[in-house]
Amino acid sequence: MSPDTLTDTQGRPILRALVTGAAGFIGSHLTEALLDLGVEVTGLDCFTRYYDEERKRANLMAARDHRRFTLVEEDLGLTDLDALLDGADAVFHLAAQPGVRASWGEGFQDYVTNNIVATQRLLEAMSGTGVPLVYSSSSSVYGDAPVMPTPEGAATGPVSPYGATKLTGENLCRMYSRDGRVHTVSLRYFTVYGPRQRPDMAFTRFIEAAGQGRPITLYGDGEQSRDFTFVSDAVDANLRALRHGGSGAVYNIGGGEHASVNGILAILGDLLGGHIAVDRHPTAAGDARHTSADVSLARREIGFDPTVGLREGLARQVASALGRVPAANPQPLGD
Ligand code: NAD
Ligand code: UGA
Repeated sequence: MSPDTLTDTQGRPILRALVTGAAGFIGSHLTEALLDLGVEVTGLDCFTRYYDEERKRANLMAARDHRRFTLVEEDLGLTDLDALLDGADAVFHLAAQPGVRASWGEGFQDYVTNNIVATQRLLEAMSGTGVPLVYSSSSSVYGDAPVMPTPEGAATGPVSPYGATKLTGENLCRMYSRDGRVHTVSLRYFTVYGPRQRPDMAFTRFIEAAGQGRPITLYGDGEQSRDFTFVSDAVDANLRALRHGGSGAVYNIGGGEHASVNGILAILGDLLGGHIAVDRHPTAAGDARHTSADVSLARREIGFDPTVGLREGLARQVASALGRVPAANPQPLGD
């Protein structure tokens, strides 16, 4: 999407936006896209220890010196939200404790704090301000795909504690929206990939291991499948959701190409020009067997249409991870 000026559903121009989780994988790409559109961006991130802080700082390399970008290094659960929201025309809420497989056991407290409590705090602070919020939800709210492809009206049934917290965050958004307190739109992303993908996710782990000549870790038989979404399509969905998404709406955001993990390994072997050695492990707890996005509602209501196919997207991630290109969107940030 390339609107000259970003607007909300009322046609009001978005001059200033708050991006929570701006130093993360998807948040850093969204931040760059907003800067490219002429928006002034406040990026909130507390650099949680889920993965290496240096990776997150590197994610912000293109944005950090931009004159319209301000980084606020604070915790969404603790920071002065009135000050943070002052002057904001829109909020993109990506800050979260991600990761399906790490959400069992003691770590669950971080999921509750960052995904539920912090989201409720943000919604409360935004109540009555008229500022719209786009919430990053997740395909994990469905658990094992109840039907394939899965429409938004299908039953939810998370199979991981992470998915349960993302669903609660989404439900909170719907409640605040139903009461007319906050205009919210939720986007259920299906396994996002591309340059800067988190280091706990499959493609990053596969590319880094194979690049170093180590065997990759394969959970289960490899026949589990996903609808994979390239990061620029997830970013585009955020801009479209702000512009066209009805209050309380929920949209599936998928890349349109469904593949098994074995299928991915075959493409990667091709791209990396060699055999990938595999170290087999049991199926990971909390892993959905299949996910598959029906994006017809998003197509109809917000004009979402994914543009990057799996082979091309994987090639871009490989090139970026192996240091050949800097980012998904290699254009320089300008004014
Ligand atoms: P990420 O971990 O790279 O980014 C999240 C960022 O939020 C991190 O930089 C972290 O430091 C920050 N953060 C966490 N809690 C915070 C808090 N309390 N205060 C301030 N900052 C905080 O993750 P990502 O993969 O970019 O995911 C972004 C969003 O998209 C998350 O909400 C995630 O649940 C959702 N999502 C991601 C995927 C995917 O495939 N990556 C799929 C579905 C949904
Ligand atoms: C991803 C994100 O990590 C979640 O934050 C997000 O909410 C979720 O997508 C979603 O779509 O909602 P996941 O689908 O598990 O979760 O993504 P990957 O970590 O990339 O895993 C994909 C598949 O590869 C899984 O079946 C996993 O078990 C497998 N895998 C992963 C391996 O076989 N080996 C690995 O080293 C890593």
